[in-house]
Amino acid sequence: MTVHFIGAGPGAADLLTLRGRNLIAASPVCLYAGSLIPNEMLTHCPADARILNTAPMSLDEIITEIAKAHEADQDVARLHSGDLSIWSALGEQLRSLTALGIPFDVTPGVPAFAAAAAVLEAELTLPGLSQSVVLTRTSGRATAMPHGETLKNFASTGAVLAIHLSIHALDQVVGELLPQYGADCPVAIVWRASWPDQRIVRATLSTIAAAVGDGMERTAVILVGPTLGAENFSESRLYADDYDRRFRPRGTSPRFPEGK
Ligand SMILES: C[S@@+](CC[C@H](N)C(=O)[O-])C[C@H]1O[C@@H](n2cnc3c(N)ncnc32)[C@H](O)[C@@H]1O
Repeated sequence: MTVHFIGAGPGAADLLTLRGRNLIAASPVCLYAGSLIPNEMLTHCPADARILNTAPMSLDEIITEIAKAHEADQDVARLHSGDLSIWSALGEQLRSLTALGIPFDVTPGVPAFAAAAAVLEAELTLPGLSQSVVLTRTSGRATAMPHGETLKNFASTGAVLAIHLSIHALDQVVGELLPQYGADCPVAIVWRASWPDQRIVRATLSTIAAAVGDGMERTAVILVGPTLGAENFSESRLYADDYDRRFRPRGTSPRFPEGK
């Protein structure tokens, strides 16, 4: 028996790895985080699977369900939105399962920030503009930000910021970033990337609040930084004709002779 933690992606049922789908199809029990995972994803479960939405459950209740499946020697597919490496409550579940001696494995998924970048048809790292993406959030009702992890500090690097769990605090986000990035810095907000009602608003730090208005609420990624919508950037060296690299040796004495 194994508990398979599976990143179920940003929403669309086909944005799931083949490994994730196969594990869901082979598991007689499925626990899924119902607030962000569509019912369509559950069509991958066996017809007679025991399927539980964990949105209204506590950690203890979730672990009790998993322990029951363990006693019955039944594999569990445990689905979380996006990828499991960020804001998934994976850590506390793995700690509990380790203490109980229940085996598990982890299968990655498509994170929301990557789905949002795809919707925008954007490369977030562009030569000469930004080579880093910071995945962050603002303080929430349940989670305070550790000292030093402020938008101001992250913005002082000039990196692209992918700000999660913060659309309700858009005015605060703008207020903290304006002094660092300036009024003209591009912003793109993607709501429910890959869902049928996905929405995009593009603006600048000085115009984004008015562009958004009050019509849209939760489940959005706010992307801020110089690469968004940029056209004036250098080409990467990767495909430059004169760039000598292992897979495309150049010149009479290449740095990486063929076969070496
Ligand atoms: C609890 S976190 C889960 C993050 C997830 N583990 C991931 O890898 O993206 C939920 C936040 O992720 C973002 N998010 C999740 N799904 C999204 C989507 N389809 N479109 C835009 N943002 C999304 C929003 O910022 C939302 O408030």
